[in-house]
Amino acid sequence: MKIVNVVGARPNFMKVAPLLEEMARHPGIEPLLVHTGQHYDARMSDLFFRDLGIREPDHYLGVGSGTHAQQTGQIMQALEPLFDELRPDLVLVVGDVNSTLAAALVAAKASIPLAHVEAGLRSFDRTMPEEVNRIVTDALAELLFTTEADAAENLRKEGVAAERIHFVGNVMVDTLLKQRPRAEGLDMPARLGLEPRGYAVLTLHRPSNVDEPEVLRGIVGALATLQRTIPIVFPAHPRTVQRLAALGLSEAAAASANLRIMEPLGYLEFLGLMAGARVVLTDSGGLQEETTALGIPCLTLRENTERPITVTQGTNRVIGVSPERIVRETRRVLEADAGPADLPRPPLWDGRAAERTVQAILTWADAGAVDTVNVAV
Ligand code: UD1
Repeated sequence: MKIVNVVGARPNFMKVAPLLEEMARHPGIEPLLVHTGQHYDARMSDLFFRDLGIREPDHYLGVGSGTHAQQTGQIMQALEPLFDELRPDLVLVVGDVNSTLAAALVAAKASIPLAHVEAGLRSFDRTMPEEVNRIVTDALAELLFTTEADAAENLRKEGVAAERIHFVGNVMVDTLLKQRPRAEGLDMPARLGLEPRGYAVLTLHRPSNVDEPEVLRGIVGALATLQRTIPIVFPAHPRTVQRLAALGLSEAAAASANLRIMEPLGYLEFLGLMAGARVVLTDSGGLQEETTALGIPCLTLRENTERPITVTQGTNRVIGVSPERIVRETRRVLEADAGPADLPRPPLWDGRAAERTVQAILTWADAGAVDTVNVAV
């Protein structure tokens, strides 16, 4: 069975790593890797391949940045002839980035079965580009692999047949559990001159936060206040750096000596940093899950989350973007008991999600799906 795995952006890489590794254990599977080039800076891509031991992609499309339509369209144009040439039995996509959506559309139109890993998450906020990507990808997928119970419920409400939905757990947590010892071995707090549990980590890149001048100004104001109480380490996404500069906020941020803006970190460095933090402030989806797996308090600077289990069974609080609330909630965490929470991890966040995913794919293939498709083609 030839499986073409398509990735493009930073949050895809830690999800595909354990899947590729697991596929390689099965002689009946020929896994291929396609990188669209949505993320292309060394710090957004190569570093992750190196840290996670992911092999060189078999095909690199070099698509790069653009508007949503440009980026999605270019990936589709590059994938169509490639899928034609490769004739995969299955296309596998992860997450909710534009590369995920583009690959899903091309696979569906070429009548190639599609597997979606991390299916069914919903923020119920269609102003989020990822929400649109998630809905469309799930509507087109033949195999939907979920990370938490709510996801199956969301999919059933959208009319997805129950037999297509497989609750397998969280492949990102597979990677986290495997890499944690190496990451902590880097001693990131000491390397940055910080006390373990004596600093906050911040990430920020979502358009609703960084492309809205008033919102970004407000967040920077809250950070300026908070950094008087606790050092804040901020590995900044390139788009956030651009937005801070465009709004003339770089200087305001630089004047806050304890707000340490730095270039994006690799997977291991960032995991090591996060594992030693007192609190994480973020608008990322993945970090909400990673902090829950680590037991580190997380404050999500958004109005909603598509990952409710991180709130109900994890360490996450969704607090919005009001500067007063950011300051108040962070102080509340700092005043509470220090140290990581010793919570049980959510069901199936156990390091074996990739194994279950590949097993489900093999069962699906054994049931004749692959032959049927080949005959239909
Ligand atoms: C994308 C995903 C988002 C994910 C995020 C993680 C979509 C719609 N969004 O957002 O879900 O959380 O990745 O990082 O797919 N840029 C660089 N170097 C790079 C890549 C991007 O400088 O290697 C800059 C460019 O100015 C680009 C901007 O960042 O225009 C945005 O990149 P893009 O891939 O469109 O979206 P992200 O914000 O990275």
